This record gives sequence, structure tokens and C-alpha cells, in this order.
Amino acid sequence: MSQSIITAAAERTKVPTMTKRTLPPGPPHRLFGLPLLRQLHRDYLGEVQRMQASYGDAVFTRIAQETIYDFFRPDWVREVLVDQARNFIRRERFTQVFAEVHGQSVLVTEGDVWQRQRRMLQPGFGPKRMDGYAQHMVAAAHQALDALPPQATQTLDFEHMVTQLTMDVVLRTLFSQEITPAVRQQAVAAEHAVRVISRAGMEAFYWPASLPDWLPHKWKLGHAKRVLDGLVRHHISQRRQTHPSAPHHDLLAMLLAVRDEGDEGGDGGTLSIEEVRDQCMTIFLAGHETTAAALTWWGHTMASHPACAQRARQEVDTVLGGRAPSYADLPALPYLAQTLKETMRLYPPAPALINRRAIQPVQIGPWQLPKGAMVRITPWVMHHDPRWFADPQRFDPERFSAAGQAAQERGAYMPFGAGPRVCIGQLFASTEMALVAAMVLQRFTLAPADTAAPQPVLNVTLRPAQGLRLQLLRR
Ligand code: HEM
Repeated sequence: MSQSIITAAAERTKVPTMTKRTLPPGPPHRLFGLPLLRQLHRDYLGEVQRMQASYGDAVFTRIAQETIYDFFRPDWVREVLVDQARNFIRRERFTQVFAEVHGQSVLVTEGDVWQRQRRMLQPGFGPKRMDGYAQHMVAAAHQALDALPPQATQTLDFEHMVTQLTMDVVLRTLFSQEITPAVRQQAVAAEHAVRVISRAGMEAFYWPASLPDWLPHKWKLGHAKRVLDGLVRHHISQRRQTHPSAPHHDLLAMLLAVRDEGDEGGDGGTLSIEEVRDQCMTIFLAGHETTAAALTWWGHTMASHPACAQRARQEVDTVLGGRAPSYADLPALPYLAQTLKETMRLYPPAPALINRRAIQPVQIGPWQLPKGAMVRITPWVMHHDPRWFADPQRFDPERFSAAGQAAQERGAYMPFGAGPRVCIGQLFASTEMALVAAMVLQRFTLAPADTAAPQPVLNVTLRPAQGLRLQLLRR
């Protein structure tokens, strides 16, 4: 991000106080918005940041039939996602794109169906279940780190390693799947399929309708969908046919057993098998790509800030004394958690593409939005705004100490979203990241392998454009 963008954003602190019936400022509407669409396609995050610098905290654009409002002030963003959440749904194009892969899962549904699914799934992601998942996470990290070559120093494709590791974690926590060499092959095929699906999803965001299935790149997508669908259905049918009564402590067992017994009007019913399939698909996809992105960027920040890495390592050594971490150890590792939070501020794994559609006229801040207006939220912009985070390009875990957090602008930090549709896997992901990070620090000192800093690109999740290679020095 250029300094001029930061400065211009900092200067735009004037707050309109009255209801504005006029539209927020924005770029001129030309050629149905196609030039703007092209710019967004080329560099989404940079373009949105430039819009904030040029027009302020509320920006209006029109692309084809869409009237779009971008909001960049934390209080206005909270109004959309939290206080007035009932006046919005997810944008249909988003749900359409995701439904092609996720079916009708909690990520996609709206209204009563979503509420029922969310109510049923929530306990499966609560603190009571974390200890069990943490054991799977530690086992997966052991296996991944033990498999690294024994040399004292090695250069490693760190992004690939943590992506495989987070996939192992999801296979273990979802299906109790041990990672044998045969399963490893399946996992590699699944990893490839996930990438194809992510890329296609990202492309599809920019088109108003799905392209026909006979186009060549759709074949690849079709194949990728079949790979993942086959994997998920195989596990469900195996569980139902061969081990219906064997006790399992994984997410699939929870999904097959859960009843809608919420205090807020549960109907006592179970999830249909199709619903179980859809939730598995979402947990599988949402549950590992984002976490892999976060751990990748954490590897980069630790390699490039040795003093912070050293402090985190000392904490890990003092608390664990060389033994493997558990869920119960995590409250005793606050500085480690701070390094992860600060990494997700600088490099939010889900930096954009939080979209909503107003289902009735609604007022956000001083702006009156008509029914049907689309709202875009871009955490990336708030996370890099010097009004909320001084010297925003600087990596500083102290921002997330108790005092630092107390001084933070409410709602300016939202890597997991906010409101009723906040990430259901927040605790799961934070637990996994902290356990893996502790185990990496116990074994290795990280250092950059390349001189050029990795460039973040948006590909549904935020990834380094050229992957991330790191030097690992055994301790
Ligand atoms: C660092 C890791 C993660 C990040 C940064 C992240 C980020 C997010 C964000 C920003 C949203 C909200 C989207 C919106 O409001 O439109 C979301 C929703 C969601 N996330 Fe995550 N996520 C992470 C990990 C996970 C994990 C591990 C799981 C499951 C195991 C998961 C499952 C979900 C689901 C199911 C939703 C949709 C919830 C709903 O609509 O009710 N996520 N995530």
C-alpha cells in the first residue's frame, strides 16, 4: 500500500452527521462500470483502497444493474454486520457460486434454515469440544514436522507444508482419518481440487451469471467438484454402513447425531444426509484454506521479525518445557496469540468479499440505502487504516496486548467477520494456529529464504503471489 493512500485516508476523518438522501461520492459511472470491474479484477484490494483514499469512508459505485456501497468506518461496518444484520442477506451471486460446491450448508442458507443449521452446528465448535480436536491437531503437526528432512538447515516451501498440515487436521477432526501414504495421495488430489475451486469461485464473483458447463475451464471445475464430493460422500457412507455404532469423537459423528434442541425454538429434528454432506463440504473447504493462509503469513512475519519470534519462543519454552502443547496450555501463551492476531491484521486470510444485500430500505450512518443495494465490506482496508492502527504497515504484536486491545477502535479488527454470521470456526482456527505455531517454534528458528518480500494476492483467501519459501534452522 502506498504512503499517499495511507495519508489521504488519514485525512478523511470528517463525519457527516445528518441523514444523507444523496448518494455517497464515488468514481464516475462509465460503460456500465466495466472499466471499474476490470480494475477490481486486476487488483481488487489496491483498487478498493484507492477508492477510500479518493472518496472517503462511504463510496458509491454502479456496475451493470448493481448499486454498490463500500463502507470503511468500523462503526458503519458494524451497523451492517451486527446492529442491522436482520436487514441484510448475503449477496445472491455469492451464495450461487458457493452453492455449486457447498450445496445448502450454513455458509449458503438464509433465514430459518440458516438459523436452524447454525444452532445445531454451534456446539460442535464450542470450547467443550476443543480439547478433543486439539489432540488431532497436535498429532497432525507432529507427523508433518517429524517428516521434514533431518538437516540442521533447510529451505522449505512453507506454504505447501502448512496447507497439507491444515488439510490433515480437517481430515482428522472431521472424519478421524489417519494420514497414511494412500490417504496422502487423496489429500494431494483434494488440495489441487480446492485450488481449482477457489480460483473458479474468485472468477465467478466478477460475472453476473454462471458460465456454461461445456467451457473447457468448467471441465476442470467439474472434475474438482467430483473429487471433493466423492471424498466427503465416501466418508459419510463408510461411517453409516460399516461403523454405525462405533464411537467417534469427530465432527462427522457430531453432525450425524445432532438434534435441533436450541432454547430458541429447536424442532428436535436431525440433519438429513444431504445436509450432513453439505456441512462437511463447507467445514472441509472453509476449515483449512483460511487457516493455511494465516499460518503461511505467520511464518513470514516470524522469519522477518526475529526479536518477536524469540520472545514467542521463550514463552513457549517456559510454559511447555519441550513437551507437546494442549488446548489447556493456550491461555498461558498470550504473546504467541498476539503474534498470530497481528499477523491476521496485516494479512487477513479473508481480506474482502464480505458482501450483503439490503432486503429493505435501511440507514447506515448518515446514508439512506434503498432496498436491493449491495454492501461490500473489506477488512483489509480497515486493518491498514492509520486512524485505527498507527503506522499500519509495521508488525507489532503489542497492538494485541491487553492494553493495546483495550485502546483499539471497536470493530476495526475483524479477520473473522462480525455479527450473527461471524465465522463459526473462529475458536477452532485460533486453537489450531496456536498449537501448530508453538510446535514450529519448539523445533525451528525461521528465516527468510528469498530477498524479496512476498506479495499478497487475493484468491478468495490472501496468499503470497509466488508461494512462501522459508529457511528452517533446527534448534
Ligand atoms: C484463520 C481462519 C479463518 C478465517 C480468517 C475465517 C474467516 C471467516 C469470515 C470473515 C467469515 C464471515 C463471512 C461473512 O460474514 O460473509 C467466516 C464465516 C464462516 N467460517 Fe470461517 N474463517 C476461518 C476458519 C474457519 C474454520 C476453521 C471453519 C470451520 C471448521 C470455518 C467455517 C466458517 C463457516 C461455516 C462460516 C459461515 C458462517 C455463517 O454464515 O453462519 N472458518 N469465516
